[in-house]
Parts: sequence; structure tokens; C-alpha cells
Amino acid sequence: MTSLDLTTASEAELNSASTGNEALLTASQLNKTVHVGEQTLSIIKDVDIYVNAGEFVVIMGKSGSGKSTLLGLLAALDYPDSGTVMLVDQALNTLDEDALAVIRQRDMGFVFQSFHLLPTLTVAENIAFPLDIARRPDKLRVTELIEAVGLGDRRNSLPSQLSGGEQQRTAVARALVSRPKIVFADEPTGNLDEQNANQVMQLLLDLREQVGSALVVVTHDATLAKMADRVITMHDGRILD
Ligand SMILES: Nc1ncnc2c1ncn2[C@@H]1O[C@H](COP(=O)(O)OP(=O)(O)OP(=O)(O)O)[C@@H](O)[C@H]1O
Ligand SMILES: [Mg+2]
Repeated sequence: MTSLDLTTASEAELNSASTGNEALLTASQLNKTVHVGEQTLSIIKDVDIYVNAGEFVVIMGKSGSGKSTLLGLLAALDYPDSGTVMLVDQALNTLDEDALAVIRQRDMGFVFQSFHLLPTLTVAENIAFPLDIARRPDKLRVTELIEAVGLGDRRNSLPSQLSGGEQQRTAVARALVSRPKIVFADEPTGNLDEQNANQVMQLLLDLREQVGSALVVVTHDATLAKMADRVITMHDGRILD
């Protein structure tokens, strides 16, 4: 394409055009300690990590190695004791909670092991939520996502009326609805049987392909790791080379 034709360029092309090929997320020398009684435990140690625009990165490692803690730091859901996280050219640790909330709404999507849907909102309302709180409602986009995850006939159901797989498909649609630059998922298939796990993961990958988002997934699933552009392994709070 010589010039960017907005009527035909895919969302993926638009996203990578806006971010280029350089690192989208760069974390340097992250450290995190927690206090347990009188003890101070170091749970993230000198972690350097980057994620390129559109890249699919898997984080593996045994239980307690620090995967969820690291994901929380990268997504600015938690503060490091030291170190920086840059999203493009913005240092997330210099921002206050309001500014971070805007970045989370606009640039990030999240999928958790236990779904984290809002229990009083329907499927459609949960998926619309990120757009609604950002005051950018888009009914067409919401309908498109509901259809994409195969929940057209459940759009008015509450999370408690859905199976685990259906709840996680709703969460996947919600994570991608605002076309984020990066999606973080912490064991997104951990509470699902194999068939639902495969379906949810395929949807996450398909939607990510359409939107051009980078994807950072914590998982124990070796099949999924094989599909990643890059696999990072954690051990005792550090990244193994
Ligand atoms: N708030 C906290 N207080 C005390 N210890 C914590 C806290 N959060 C995490 N930890 C400890 O830090 C270590 C890393 O925890 P984390 O949840 O990041 O591991 P994980 O790799 O995600 O494990 P899993 O695969 O079981 O989810 C663990 O030893 C955990 O017990
Ligand atoms: Mg974890």
C-alpha cells in the first residue's frame, strides 16, 4: 500500500502503522518485595522485558515463580518497588491513578483466570463496558464482538447464567472491544475444560490478529506456548535466559 487507505486498511494494519515495529512495552530492572510478618520477600528480581507491537508473548514458569505479579506490574495494576515500565514513550510509574486509568481503558485489555465479569451487567453490557466508561459507546462494535465470540443468543444473559466457557468468551470480547494496543491474560484457560480452553484461546488469537494487539499470556499450556512468537520462562522471580 503506498498511501494508507482508511476504507480498506485492516485494524491490524492501522495498529501497527501507529506503533511501528519497535518495542511497545519495555520494562527495565523491575523489583517487587512483599512483607509477610517480619520478613521482606523479594518476589520480582531485576526483571527486564519488552513486548513488540503486535507480538504474542507467553510467560511460563512454575507456581509461585512470580508470573502474575510480573503481569500486574506490566499492566500497571500494581507498582514496582523500583524499575520502570514504558508504554511506547510514556513511563507508567510517573503517572497518577487517573492517568493510568485512562491508559488502561484506551490501550490495554485484560483477561483473568476467573473471568472477572461484572455480575449485575449482561453479556452485551459487560462487553460494552470499556467503551462506555471511556465515553466512546459503539453499539455496532459491541454487536460485532458478541457475534465474533458466538454469544448472539446470550447477549442479555447475566454472567451467573453462563457456562465458564461462555463467561470467558465474554471476557475476551470485552478485552478486545476498544482495539487496545496490548492485551494481558493471566491463565485465561485455567478454569476451563480442554474443549472450551481451545475455543477461548482461538478466539483470543483471532481477535488479536484482527485488531493487531500485542498479547501477553501467562499459561501452563505447552500447546499454546508453541503458538507464541516468544516464550519467557520465570524462575524464582527472575527471567531465565
Ligand atoms: N501480596 C502478597 N503477599 C505475600 N506474598 C505474595 C503476595 N503476592 C505474591 N506473593 C508471593 O510471591 C510469589 C509469586 O507469586 P505469583 O502469584 O506472582 O506467582 P505465579 O507464578 O503467578 O504462581 P501461580 O502459577 O501459582 O499463579 C509467591 O511465592 C507468592 O506467594
Ligand atoms: Mg499466577
